[in-house]
Amino acid sequence: MNQRSWPFLPGRNIEIVRAQGAWLYTAKDQAILDAAGGAIVVNVGHGRDRVAQAVYAATRDTSYVVPPWLTPSRRAMVDALGDWLPPSLTRVHATSGGSEANEAAIKIAVQYQSACGFPRRTRVISRDLSYHGTTLATTAASGHPGRRKGLERAIESYPYSPTPYPLRCPLGRDHPYAGQWYVDALRQRIKQEGAHNVAAVLAEPITGSSGGAIVPPDDYWPGVRKLCDEHRIILILDEVMTGFGRTGRDFGHQHWPITPDILVSGKGLAGGYAPLGGVFGTEAIGQALERAGYGVMFNTFGAHPGACAAAAEVLTIMREENLVPRVAKLGLRLSALLAEAFRDHPHVAEHRGRGLLQAIEIVRDRETLEPFPLAAEVTNKVIATALRKGVFFYGGGTGAVRDIVCMGPPFIIEERELASMVDILRASVDEVLSEVST
Ligand SMILES: Cc1ncc(COP(=O)(O)O)c(C=O)c1O
Repeated sequence: MNQRSWPFLPGRNIEIVRAQGAWLYTAKDQAILDAAGGAIVVNVGHGRDRVAQAVYAATRDTSYVVPPWLTPSRRAMVDALGDWLPPSLTRVHATSGGSEANEAAIKIAVQYQSACGFPRRTRVISRDLSYHGTTLATTAASGHPGRRKGLERAIESYPYSPTPYPLRCPLGRDHPYAGQWYVDALRQRIKQEGAHNVAAVLAEPITGSSGGAIVPPDDYWPGVRKLCDEHRIILILDEVMTGFGRTGRDFGHQHWPITPDILVSGKGLAGGYAPLGGVFGTEAIGQALERAGYGVMFNTFGAHPGACAAAAEVLTIMREENLVPRVAKLGLRLSALLAEAFRDHPHVAEHRGRGLLQAIEIVRDRETLEPFPLAAEVTNKVIATALRKGVFFYGGGTGAVRDIVCMGPPFIIEERELASMVDILRASVDEVLSEVST
């Protein structure tokens, strides 16, 4: 194949021919530690025979069946989900990935408001540092300038509220009133839009790669939930990255005492063995749409039998092997390793995250938090250097927030692998920064 015909990895001549556990193997037989689980997807690890067998059986027996009909693997996935989803989320809509799932969630929220007699409630407030997908609506909803280049005039403007970012809170770093400040900012935004025009708030419970595993202050989510309830606004939580154990709880929002009206998932739902996204809504939403006669259109490949089989198997394995508590434990270990490696580093503002979704933020000046210039391409260089040393990290950040290196390894990673991953990260950061003028 002509390398230039493959658009996603320009200039990177990497071919992976095999993967096992937390490791990828290239055609040249180089072993790469998958510290990012691909695009922060892989949870039960690569090369699980029983998942591959389940996909094989489902596609052999029911290669393709229209999404609204049941198949054994669809039934198995819905049964397995019963052990994961908050009890209030009874309705399941399956897509082919996270973007489609967020797009569907936005549409369902707007349809719900219309079904309840509020057709003017069409605005969806998202956040200024976020990522929700590749479609036009989800690109518009994403606070991710890097991914809207050349599209600015084609996409609708979505109202943003500031993403809670304790490191860079306008009140001061890790300010005790930061949570309240960000809730007040959302309240202001709702007021500006007019609550009667707002259908939903769409946000990631812990901001994924756009911000780099940013954990909000503890009073933020309860405050947002209360605001949404006061104004009858639907709370859509995008758990495409944080869902299904990634942060050491079943779902990222479960670090706080809240439940969304619509939960969106993707990535880890099928562990990387098949493309799949999920939208999970309350009974009230499902019933309102039914009463109004509003349909939720399926994607041709939504709930594909092979993907549902993979999801059922992956969700079962995670329970059988107690992988979520393992993520919580490994997450603490990873935080400790990152603290040891970067606590006094002059160019690492902080390390942060929960469970196996963590990141470091590299800055020119640790006091003022001034970043390195864009042209220095610090993140890309750190990732390329680490890759040469045999570890794959995931680049993050966008716009003014840049030079984020994310980690999201498979849940079966061993402690010694975590330690060598952090050693290589430290060595790569130092090597790159010794060449960039600081
Ligand atoms: C938080 C979040 N939402 C949505 C998406 C889009 O999902 P997909 O790439 O499966 O369409 C992503 C992908 O990175 C994501 O991280």
